Amino acid sequence: MRVLLAMMLFAGFVGCATYYDYRLDREYGPADPARYDRPPTARADIDFRRDVKPILDSRCVVCHGCYDAPCQLKLSAYQGITRGASKEIVYDAARLVAAEPTRLFTDAGSNAAWRRRGFYPVLNERAPNLEANREGSVMYRMLALKRAHHLPAGAVLPAKDFDFALDRKQQCPRIEEMDQFEAKFPQWGMPYGLPALSEREHDTLARWIEAGAPYTEPAPLPAGYAERIAAWERFLNGDSLKAQLMSRYVYEHWFIGHLYFDDMPGNEYFELVRSATPPGEPIKLIVSRRPYDDPGVARVYYRLRRYPETLLTKTHLPYALNTARMAKIKSWFLDAPYEVTALPSYEPEQASNPFITFRQLPVNARYRLMLEEAQFQVVQMQLEPGDKIVIYSDGVTEAENAAGEFSDTERLRTCLRENASLGAAELHEKLLGALDAFVEGGVVRDDITALVLEYT
Ligand code: HEC
Repeated sequence: MRVLLAMMLFAGFVGCATYYDYRLDREYGPADPARYDRPPTARADIDFRRDVKPILDSRCVVCHGCYDAPCQLKLSAYQGITRGASKEIVYDAARLVAAEPTRLFTDAGSNAAWRRRGFYPVLNERAPNLEANREGSVMYRMLALKRAHHLPAGAVLPAKDFDFALDRKQQCPRIEEMDQFEAKFPQWGMPYGLPALSEREHDTLARWIEAGAPYTEPAPLPAGYAERIAAWERFLNGDSLKAQLMSRYVYEHWFIGHLYFDDMPGNEYFELVRSATPPGEPIKLIVSRRPYDDPGVARVYYRLRRYPETLLTKTHLPYALNTARMAKIKSWFLDAPYEVTALPSYEPEQASNPFITFRQLPVNARYRLMLEEAQFQVVQMQLEPGDKIVIYSDGVTEAENAAGEFSDTERLRTCLRENASLGAAELHEKLLGALDAFVEGGVVRDDITALVLEYT
């Protein structure tokens, strides 16, 4: 009986969604996944870059900017909005086999291709008229929902209505499921769990969606960029075996960075990508899961691709390119006297081990490339006044007491937590005092150094 009821409920739900789909199709025609591959151009009164993007950047990308954004909806680029959303979660501990990556600007090249990968639109892809653009758009309705249900009053949001856990269960309604979503979760309009957009911001986004989401291309790169890009691409695509191995090494360290020319205006960033085409031709991206995967072409070219998304502190690893840097890399890798006799293969056992792949490169060159810009490897962190940084040698966590026990990291953490309100000097004293008390009677074998910094 219970099974039957569940089946009936399920049939009811599917029926509803299908009915809604049918209703949308009947009223607004069939969906055209290629509609935003040819987006309407900007109008004088509403412009994506001038009017819309600043609102998305200040109110939405904080959640909708990462690879694992809610519903995989990335609002950090126009192409992310038109790609839409997916119910697949990116980090799923219960998954047994590798997921196919869904990196924007990498793993599919058109909205129709994303539809085949399970993404559904958040903009209207049916008839391009005002009503359909509103009613047929998940994004419009998510914004309207917030407008109709502002945040409840009170200092803290009620936990029964809002869940902020990292593994929060997502609904990710498609347009056919929006009626049910609105009825069931009236508080969940966008931006989720935050104050509503201002009237002006809301009207701007609404007008843009009503107008069919017109698009403006980014402004061309300022003068001088083409020349710098050409110089670096020439440098990274030398024909000698030495040059090819150098470039592979450089790429496998820089692929994650946001490269920029520090003598140029414009706040423009670039990614170093592998291409099947040489400098001077349009980039033909080699798509691979890892940077050392077999590129599948006889000759790889390393190219600079303009970074197309909003920059987010959490993923922004800036790396400066300039003539001094190029000269250094050239002297370490190209001018140094050594031979590369053959290029290493891309067989996984070899390619995944940099000590094997790059063993023909001089040790000096290898470590210098990393050391020169060591802060590039370090993740940024936002500090507030009163925050402290504790830097310590491993002697602090590996000091032994008379009973042969180690003063491990947990003990250190507890001590720091309990004394977090002290100033840097007192905290330092407390830390060493606690360590002294712990090792009483034990043998100190390692150096014990601790530095406490306070941000004021
Ligand atoms: C605090 C984080 C946060 C902010 C900020 C935020 N969102 Fe969301 N967004 C979410 C979450 C979480 C969901 C998933 C809700 C669910 O379905 O369970 C979501 C879902 C969505 C969806 C639905 C996707 C789908 O598959 O149905 C849209 C559209 C959307 N957001 C648009 C926006 C817009 C536009 C803004 C800025 C005005 C915004 N969001 C700001 C967290 C946020």
